[in-house]
Parts: sequence; C-alpha cells; structure tokens
Amino acid sequence: MTILILGSGGREHTFAWKISQSPLCKNLYVAPGNSGTAEIATNVNIGVTDFQSIKTFVLENAVDMIVVGPEDPLVQGIHDFFLQDEALKHVAVIGPEKAAAELEGSKEFAKEFLYRHHIPTAAYQSFNASNVEDGYAFLETLKAPYVLKADGLAAGKGVLILNDLDEAKAELKRMLVDAKFGAASSKVVIEEFLDGIELSCFVLSDGKNYKILPTAKDYKRIGEGDTGLNTGGMGAISPVPFATEAFLNKIEERIVKPTISGLQKDNLPYKGFVFIGIIKVGDDPKVIEYNVRMGDPETEVVLPRLKNDLVEIFQAIANQTLDQIEIEIDERAATTVMLVSGGYPEAYEKGKEITGIKEITDSIAFHAGAKLEGGKVVTSGGRVMAITSYGNTYQEAIKKSYQSIDKLHFDKMNYRKDIGFDL
Ligand code: AMP
Ligand code: GLY
Repeated sequence: MTILILGSGGREHTFAWKISQSPLCKNLYVAPGNSGTAEIATNVNIGVTDFQSIKTFVLENAVDMIVVGPEDPLVQGIHDFFLQDEALKHVAVIGPEKAAAELEGSKEFAKEFLYRHHIPTAAYQSFNASNVEDGYAFLETLKAPYVLKADGLAAGKGVLILNDLDEAKAELKRMLVDAKFGAASSKVVIEEFLDGIELSCFVLSDGKNYKILPTAKDYKRIGEGDTGLNTGGMGAISPVPFATEAFLNKIEERIVKPTISGLQKDNLPYKGFVFIGIIKVGDDPKVIEYNVRMGDPETEVVLPRLKNDLVEIFQAIANQTLDQIEIEIDERAATTVMLVSGGYPEAYEKGKEITGIKEITDSIAFHAGAKLEGGKVVTSGGRVMAITSYGNTYQEAIKKSYQSIDKLHFDKMNYRKDIGFDL
C-alpha cells in the first residue's frame, strides 16, 4: 500500500514510526513532515489543508490511504472532499467526515451531542454577542472558578478558567464582543467547573464498531506542579494508574458506548480516532471535551504500547470490520517528556541545532518542531521533540526518558522535570 500521513508533529512521527513497521506499507509519505519523518518516510512539501495539492499528489503517486493527524483538515472536510470526488473516492481516509468533526470544531455542538445522548458532562449554557447580558446573569448563578470556552477552534487556547466573577464577565465580553479569538469566540460556552483529575481515552471507530486503546495522561501546563500557561502538552504517561478496571468499565458503559451509538443515531459518519477528554469527579467519569484525532503527546505513549499492525487496524476501519480485530497491548508502561524551545508557549527562537540524538539508546526520540537544515537537525517550533521510554512501571520509564534527555542539547532547551508527579 501507499500511505500518506498529514501533519508535522510528534504525533505524525509516531504514526510514521508505527506504520513503517507494517509489511502492508510499501510507500510512506508525510505532508509536510519533519526531520524525524524524513528518516523513515518521504516528506512532501504540502500543507495539511491544501486539498487541491493533496489531490494532485494522491493521484500522481497512487496513494491508497490518508491518515489525518491534526483536526484542521477534518473540520474543513477533507474526508468529504475525497468522498465527493470520483477520482478520489476509493482512497481510504482515516478521520471522520466534516459533520462528525464538529465534535471538536464546535464546543456547543459537542455539548448538545453529550446532552442528547445522556453522556455525563458539566452543565452549560452558550451565548453570543446578542445575549451577553444573559451570559453575565448565568455567571452569577455559578460558583467560582468560571469556565469560558470559545465555541470554535482556537489552537488549544480558547478555554479560560477564572476565579473572579468580574474578570469572568469582562473576559466573556472580550470573547463575544471584542472577538478575542476571532470568529472562534463569536459563541461562548459557559460551563460548570468540574474538580478532579484528568485523563484521555482513545477510541477507534469504523462507524459501526469500536475498540478502546490504552488511556493516557497529558501534562498541559508549562510549569512544574501544573502551573503557568497551557501548552499543547509537555509529557504523557500510559497507562493511567488511577484508571482501574472498575473505572474503565464506567467509561465504556457511560461514555464510549453512548458516544458510538450517538454518532450512528445522529448520522455522523466516523472512521477514525475519537479522543475523549475525561475528568474523574469522585469516582465518576465526566466528559470535558471531544477531539476528532489522536492527542499529541499522548500518541507518543499510546502507539508504542500497541502491538497490532496499525495498517491492518486502519484497513479494518476503512472496511468497517473493526469487530474482527483484537487489540493487543504491551503490558509495559510508556512515558514521554516533551523538549520545548525556551519561551514557549509564548515567543521563542527557532533554528537551534539539536545534538546528541544518535546517542539515545534507551528511548525513542519522536521529532516534533524539528527540521533538517544543511544536514543538521534544528528546532523549528515550540514543541521540539518527545522522548518516549518503556518501563515495568511508569517511574522506571520516566527515569529512562530523563537519562536520555541528559544526552540531548539545544540552546534554551526547556522541559518539565516532574512528569507523573501527581500520580
Ligand atoms: P478543553 O479544550 O475543553 O479540553 O479545555 C481545556 C482544559 O480546560 C481541560 O483540559 C481542563 O483542564 C480544563 N477544563 C475544561 N472544562 C473544564 C470544566 N468544566 N471544569 C474544569 N476544568 C475544565
Ligand atoms: N495533548 C492534548 C491534545 O492533543 O489536544
């Protein structure tokens, strides 16, 4: 088979790493890719939402399958674009169609879906510029902290959690009236605050059947002890120690099953990954959000634990035969620590040479914001590289990641030294 992966992060390097191990994959391309994917696949200089150029490439290179990494092309309808084109409709696309991608594309859509299918989640109301005053009144009925969410995609920055009522009202106005997040905040969902510990649940869906992948926990804040600004993710651990069998059963019965059957009832075609952000409140799981793709850096710990041939799984998703696949998971724990550019998630410099990658023997270095320049690997983004390790326990795995990181260097390299601190 000839496979094209869309994306350029650590998630996509991990997909490429896993897919390149499959005897079913003959040619592997990544658009646009990074220095890590360049070692195991062919990078193609096409943007992930440039559908016309993707089409041309797919036809010229007889691509059989597209694996979509990030949410943008899905929310913009890449799957529908392929289905509606006579020349492309035979190509398997791993990722939901546009209508279903709204689960990530619109927070209000996701909340309505959750309520309609009686899936546990925080109470909410949504507002727009014409009823800001009602938004203020709703805030007054809630207790601090206040959770405000821009309805649309805002690159992970659209959620504000505020302790002060006046500040919450001011931010609501900034979002709705002053377009703080552009069109993404023309609607705002205000939610009840849920107090608990978070985990991510990953589900494969072929539109009829589902399979659950290992859970993972992501560390989103830049600072140790979960402080400071939100990032794309600074590290991850799988499995999640507090996700006991009893708790996982609750997730499957109360959340996964009604999600998959809800997609069918609502006629939302879904062939891809469902990423369910969950918060454990007391002993009960509640949904924080849906994403219509894999998480990053969660992919860097989930896929290394998957023993199956990933291409076989993707074929089963395309053919709606996922029920015939038995998921096999490595018993070991996996951890990853993200190396970031100094200053990230605010302003940072690029083009710093990364040294020591070849000296890493006990971990896997998944490249993210890194590219090849004159034979050297240099930084090209905020999140630069995810260092994944296995261990009999997550403590053992995390120790290996930190030992490997000691061999790596780039100017102003930063990372969290406390991944797993709260477990
Ligand atoms: P989201 O983009 O919806 O996942 O929100 C980003 C982050 O905000 C989540 O990972 C949570 O840490 C936090 N968050 C979102 N909604 C809530 C809520 N209702 N209660 C508490 N924390 C929340
Ligand atoms: N790590 C969180 C995400 O991928 O959205």
